[in-house]
Amino acid sequence: MKTFGHFDDQNREYVITDPATPFPWINYLGNEDFFGLISNTAGGYDFYKDAKFRRITRYRYNGVPMDAGGRYFYINDGGTVWSPGWKPCKTPLDAYECRHGMNYTRITGAKNGVEASVLFFVPLKTWAEVQKLTLRNTTNEVKTLKLFSFTEWCLWNAATDMENFQRNWSTGEVEIENGSTIYHKTEYKERRNHYAYYALTNAKADGYDTDRESFVGLYNGFEAPQCVMAGKPAMSLAHGWSPIASHYIEVTLQPGESKDYIFLLGYVENEQDEKFSQEDIARKQRGELISSQDSDVTLVNKKKAHAVIQRFATVEAVDAAFQELKEMWDGLLSKYTVTSTDERLNRMVNIWNQYQCMITFCFSRSASFFESGVGRGMGFRDSNQDLVGFVHQVPSRARQRIIDIASTQFPDGGCYHQYQPLTKRGNNDIGGGFNDDPCWLIFGTVAYIKETGDFSILDEMVPWDNEPGTEVPLFEHLRISFNHVVENLGPHMLPLIGRADWNDCLNLNCFSWDPNESFQTTENNSEGSKAESLMIAGLFVLTGKQYVELCQKIAKDEEAKRAQRCIDAMVEAVKKHGWDGDWYLRAYDFYGNKIGSKECEEGKIFIESQGFCTMAGIGLEDGMVEKALDSCKKYLDCEHGMVLNNPAFTRYYVEMGEISSYPAGYKENAGIFCHNNPWVIIGETVARRGNDAWDHYTKICPAWIKDQQLHKVEPYVYCQMVAGKDAAKPGEGKNSWLTGTAAWNWITITQYILGIKPTYDGIEIDPCIPSTLKEYTVHRELRDALFDITIKNPDGRESGVRSIVLDGSTIEGNVITATPGHHEVVVVM
Ligand code: BGC
Ligand code: NOJ
Repeated sequence: MKTFGHFDDQNREYVITDPATPFPWINYLGNEDFFGLISNTAGGYDFYKDAKFRRITRYRYNGVPMDAGGRYFYINDGGTVWSPGWKPCKTPLDAYECRHGMNYTRITGAKNGVEASVLFFVPLKTWAEVQKLTLRNTTNEVKTLKLFSFTEWCLWNAATDMENFQRNWSTGEVEIENGSTIYHKTEYKERRNHYAYYALTNAKADGYDTDRESFVGLYNGFEAPQCVMAGKPAMSLAHGWSPIASHYIEVTLQPGESKDYIFLLGYVENEQDEKFSQEDIARKQRGELISSQDSDVTLVNKKKAHAVIQRFATVEAVDAAFQELKEMWDGLLSKYTVTSTDERLNRMVNIWNQYQCMITFCFSRSASFFESGVGRGMGFRDSNQDLVGFVHQVPSRARQRIIDIASTQFPDGGCYHQYQPLTKRGNNDIGGGFNDDPCWLIFGTVAYIKETGDFSILDEMVPWDNEPGTEVPLFEHLRISFNHVVENLGPHMLPLIGRADWNDCLNLNCFSWDPNESFQTTENNSEGSKAESLMIAGLFVLTGKQYVELCQKIAKDEEAKRAQRCIDAMVEAVKKHGWDGDWYLRAYDFYGNKIGSKECEEGKIFIESQGFCTMAGIGLEDGMVEKALDSCKKYLDCEHGMVLNNPAFTRYYVEMGEISSYPAGYKENAGIFCHNNPWVIIGETVARRGNDAWDHYTKICPAWIKDQQLHKVEPYVYCQMVAGKDAAKPGEGKNSWLTGTAAWNWITITQYILGIKPTYDGIEIDPCIPSTLKEYTVHRELRDALFDITIKNPDGRESGVRSIVLDGSTIEGNVITATPGHHEVVVVM
């Protein structure tokens, strides 16, 4: 079977050895404010905080060929023109390798005795991407090369950048400083106080270009820019049209010699009264600056850019910054590690699953090669789930995220479905009314407190809808979230679904016949609706139990009792009205008809309610949990994972909406929606079925992918969806990277399968593993406690702890307090 790469666990890298991957296989640069997406052929783009409002470089989606535009280097070696990343030139290379690591990518290409290796990363706390290019002459002759860099500016707002050309083609402006730094300053004169720059920091360029047409040529593509082909820059100055930044460097390399060039692609914000620089007027008169600005008085103040350029002007400084990034990741990945005989398990837990959790925490569902970055901000439910996979890495950032999310909530407990990361305001275009949203705030907050022991977050004063003066303690937001479900029950005393629950495409109150309407934002006709959700019922019981435990912990006993009564009532309602005989129903529709029932023509069983009701343990004592799990195996499972529903919908049901609009086997219509597979897996651990849990886990786990060509997308991260058994191509993956699958599989494997769960006081040890796993060790750091835990399973059991020895003494039970210091724990199953 053809492979395109392999894991290098030692270096925590995925190594791509063939540039023509079945789809661009990407990586993410940056982890705080300044971000980049980079493909294995150096395609992609950068932005500051918000992929829509602060797009720095331009990208074309769904282009022909795929993945056009990025950070390109061109080498003209005596008329042979090539790029280290193969694209865009596609000149056959003598060698190619792309190493995607933790927030960095190194792409190396070689041609005719020249090796070019580029390291891309964003230094910590820096608003810039570093590109360190190393050129090496591996021949016995002197080589003279013409090197060109290239990047294309986006006119800041990535949405209007792709549509408003009557305006855009007149607004572009740049400045050029000493030929080596190119500043992009479109609209800087007026309301913007930010600009971008592309600098060569450790050498002087021999030329430049800033106008796309002059550099590329109107009738050329990126693969053959006319300047590169001619071996000569045009020294162009952009006035409107499409401003770019390109350096031209003449390089001579002695036999065996290598040279490093450092490029910096950065972003700066200036204070309003320090936007412009008087000194630069004089510099311009001396010829040190070239500007396409209409007026000299509006030359940008470059002080901040200069400081960063200075900081990264030497190879030593760049290498030190890279080392710092690596050390940060050493730290982040040391909080939870497993050692077992299965290297696939080790690499998912120790490296890639954790890495993806950081990425989803940073980006939510905004910017990937499947999300254009213009459509979506941060989701309320998405971010609450993402932070649960990330909280052990940097708890303080998870804390801030919880406050930001809660600040967009409405006083009745409802929520804006999304908010923009730049403004942190709720997004009015999408609005609210997704009735699962409030529950997720409890889910996120409880995970934070269990990780940190920091109950003070509950006292943080948090506004409603960002309205100053409305602040109440965060705990109040949790109480109102809980109540939002209780106060919105339907005829069966089950939660009303509202606009939709977790499944955005089960639109029970939409009734749309208008193709110009978006299912997601069309009028919510839930007035008078009887549509109820079993998924929210299960979610409510699960997060409600967490809420009760929290209330008890902080001595709110009356509130705990009240909440418990609501949960008991919900459990009763599910047993009475939500059970279909062999599985849980999915919902009741607008009219009160069953969805996800044997009685239905299609879509007889859905995964979400099986996942949540089994996780919540509803009817465990009556055998409902096991029956539902068996039904998942029987009807939903296939070689590549469990599909969302079965049978798939084959026609449009107006009362169900978008779900029935998708072709069978794709997306929410019977695709393998990886996000909800772990719910059933956790359900399996509730039923103590370790072998089944493991079987489901490995089916969707990237490290177990056999056919890379079929899977198509990156084999090192989870994707949102793999085509299901009813699809044309079962097993084909789509929408990689930005999915709640990362966080859910993280807690599934670390807490429920390997069985090390944080609790308010410490850790609980409760493995539920395959009987073939005879021994493994986990290193877990929780607050100031360090645990080294060895789990022995001599009899090949699936669950159950027989004895625990803590620091040499046998203990009662399976919970260990997080007392500061190092602890050795030996567990026998
Ligand atoms: C997609 C969902 C997504 C929703 C909101 C739908 O078209 O299928 O996965 O959550 O849009 O953007
Ligand atoms: C993706 C969305 O981001 C998420 O919020 C939703 O729950 C799933 N799709 C399922 O529709």
